[in-house]
Amino acid sequence: MKALIRTCAVACTAVVALFFSTYASAGAYAGFKVIEKMQCATCHNLSGEVGLKTAGLWRKGPDLYYAGNKYRANWMSDWLQNPKRVRPAGTYYFDHVESGKKMDMIRKTSFDEHVRLNAKNAKDVALALAEMRGKNALVRTEKHDASITAGAIGELMFDKVNGCMACHRIDSDYGGLSGPEMYTAGKRLKPEFMLSYIRDPQAWDHNSMMPRRDITDEDLQKLVNYIISLSGAPKAGDGKLTSLDSAAKNYRYYCMQCHGIAGHGSGVNARDMSVPPRNHSDGKYLKARTDAELFKVIKEGGAAINKSALMPPWGGTLSDTEIHDMVKHVRHLCNCKYEAK
Ligand code: HEC
Ligand code: HEC
Ligand code: HEC
Repeated sequence: MKALIRTCAVACTAVVALFFSTYASAGAYAGFKVIEKMQCATCHNLSGEVGLKTAGLWRKGPDLYYAGNKYRANWMSDWLQNPKRVRPAGTYYFDHVESGKKMDMIRKTSFDEHVRLNAKNAKDVALALAEMRGKNALVRTEKHDASITAGAIGELMFDKVNGCMACHRIDSDYGGLSGPEMYTAGKRLKPEFMLSYIRDPQAWDHNSMMPRRDITDEDLQKLVNYIISLSGAPKAGDGKLTSLDSAAKNYRYYCMQCHGIAGHGSGVNARDMSVPPRNHSDGKYLKARTDAELFKVIKEGGAAINKSALMPPWGGTLSDTEIHDMVKHVRHLCNCKYEAK
């Protein structure tokens, strides 16, 4: 083990030396020195070469030799100062789970704290990592188009159609555990990387546990834009639900029975309703409604605004704060805000 670490340290010194000569930025230069001194390469693949001897060691942490093509630079600098796990079950879940009574459980004690850098070192290291452009060819061909969104059916595409939520969390309390959390991915990852990774995970890492499936270019854009939309609101990383997480949860619990999983107004109850539940992805309609109007109809029900009483009043069930958050959630579904005519 010690010998392996030594071998790696030597190999990685060579890699780092190579970067020294190629890149001139003073910050990046200082960053490579920190990377070398703190032996980041004992856990991360920084060179892109997978030797049989060292591959096992590198599996401890995610590959970083293409960090510049994967991560947003600001995120790296923040994360290195305040590292929080983004894969609930660790980089390789097998090292961190045990069988429980009903299902496998995460062994919380199996995780070590990540090294923490001071602000200056974190900035420099982020600059250095940004220079690491392995797999350039994979991202060069990707073009992100923020205008191709899935609107309200983003969650449906992610949850049901493509089964992504089986392995990924879309809020801090909903979804699978073996993959990186998706509700922070928009802040963490470059869109071109996401497009490329979802297109072909094994092209990035032949060991990736994520299945490759055929997804059209348009649907890839929609999935990525949906993932980006999940990062819109600040999320608590400590497992506590933020207000918007709770609104999404309340919506799943109370509203989907009529408004539908996709928010299209096509819930299980909708079939026999004389007035169909409003389609919450209908931005054209909802942008004509003020937030105050939405608040009122959710709190007091359809009848209070001369609409169908089939829309129940929720004021007895949800607090005013929760209803305000729900209005924000509906705005999120329609991807619209109030526009005066
Ligand atoms: C003892 C092993 C170890 C060492 C040493 C180490 N890391 Fe990590 N690192 C990890 C693990 C494990 C993760 C994954 C955490 C997770 O899954 O959320 C990680 C995650 C990261 C991430 C976030 C990437 C992501 O997608 O989760 C960055 C950036 C990073 N490390 C940089 C560094 C740098 C820079 C150094 C040296 C200063 C370093 N690491 C040293 C084990 C290590
Ligand atoms: C069987 C489990 C599984 C399924 C299903 C799955 N993924 Fe993944 N996904 C993973 C794992 C595990 C990784 C992390 C690989 C790594 O870096 O260690 C990943 C990585 C990713 C990444 C890169 C994130 C990062 O931080 O590195 C994105 C984006 C992503 N998945 C999106 C999706 C989308 C969209 C779908 C549905 C089409 C999907 N995934 C389906 C397991 C899965
Ligand atoms: C029992 C079925 C049902 C449930 C549950 C339900 N709704 Fe509705 N909702 C309706 C119907 C029906 C309408 C259409 C009323 C109309 O247009 O006359 C509607 C309309 C709406 C509208 C549009 C109002 C407008 O200005 O036209 C909003 C916003 C809304 N619902 C939000 C919610 C929220 C948020 C929840 C969960 C807290 C919820 N609904 C739960 C049936 C339901």
